Amino acid sequence: MIYLDHAASTPIHPEALEVLQSSFAQDFANPSSPHALGRKTLEQLESIKKDIIKIFQTQEKEIIFTGSATESNNTIINHFQAQGKILFSEADHPSITAAISLEKKCPALHNTTGDLDWDRLENQLQEHGKNISLAIFTHINSQSGVILDYQRLADLLKQYAPQAFFHLDFSQTLGKWPIPSELCRAVDGLTLSSHKMGGPKGIAAHLIPKGKHLTALLKGGSQQSGRSSTIAFPLIKSWHKAILINCSSSNCWLQMKEQTQKLYLQLKNKIPEIQFPFETNDCSPFIACFILPLISSDILMRHLEMEDIYISTTSACSSRHAQENPVLAALQVPPELSNNVLRISFSNETSAAELEQFAEYLSFCYKQLKSLLKKKRK
Ligand SMILES: Cc1ncc(COP(=O)(O)O)c(C=O)c1O
Repeated sequence: MIYLDHAASTPIHPEALEVLQSSFAQDFANPSSPHALGRKTLEQLESIKKDIIKIFQTQEKEIIFTGSATESNNTIINHFQAQGKILFSEADHPSITAAISLEKKCPALHNTTGDLDWDRLENQLQEHGKNISLAIFTHINSQSGVILDYQRLADLLKQYAPQAFFHLDFSQTLGKWPIPSELCRAVDGLTLSSHKMGGPKGIAAHLIPKGKHLTALLKGGSQQSGRSSTIAFPLIKSWHKAILINCSSSNCWLQMKEQTQKLYLQLKNKIPEIQFPFETNDCSPFIACFILPLISSDILMRHLEMEDIYISTTSACSSRHAQENPVLAALQVPPELSNNVLRISFSNETSAAELEQFAEYLSFCYKQLKSLLKKKRK
């Protein structure tokens, strides 16, 4: 099997799975319980929290665990849209775009290579900056792979909307990108996801400034500030293991960059008509988005599936609505090509041999389907 859909979800790392299994058996006590078992779990939890915060090299933030990145993004948006408008991108994940009510939307636009249109954004901020309570963006766009220049955005916000909370969705970044020390000085909040980086599903988090109280989505026991529900400690312990494994290897980004560049070359050599619409931008080497004109991406995906190769067309949450995909529209993909977009995404475990095999089979499939199409047209 060749699995190239890690941006949707990765398999759990074997060591994280081991921790999960043993923690489910041993750490069953509720960390909010006052007895010795509860206190023991709480102690472990506090130590894990400190560890994660240390990775972000900050003393000013605290971590709130949630059930998913969707929950974290929704919590942030729910809190701030009561206070003003929200600057965001329609090219971002639906956990952001669908959570903002229409009258609060202040969408930033993109140019044709997937980057923000910075001139238009500055004009927009000059006009509406005072009314913006939240700017929320993904750091690495899950469709295009384009990396947001968050420092540039932070500087613009400081100038035109200093009151705005700046939140970055880090779901596609954690465990892949070396975290710079200035990150937590540039942004106010971060969304983190476990199952995109070798941790278990059902756990995520947001970092927010210490002492900041957000409106809870669910009413209940307030186990964490602004978040009710019993803390899923075994999931957190397992995720922590995945974080230790994946955040300690600082050269995985460079290694993957080399592999991806090689793959791009191979694909361009084998399929001259292939288009990489976002490649001129600063992109994550873990996500490659490309267009194959003539053959629909669904057909190609199904053919690859028959060979036990798994790729995606668009992000998992938008893939059922490919016809009117708002992410592709916001990324300026011409509507006539929106059914020809494919996305492949990698983990730290993806090997050069797998990518080579994929390139080989994709070009074989594409050529076969193209010749069938030609015959049919004759
Ligand atoms: C950037 C980004 N944010 C948020 C999410 C939502 O994650 P989940 O479905 O785990 O809540 C995803 C999932 O694909 C994503 O890519």
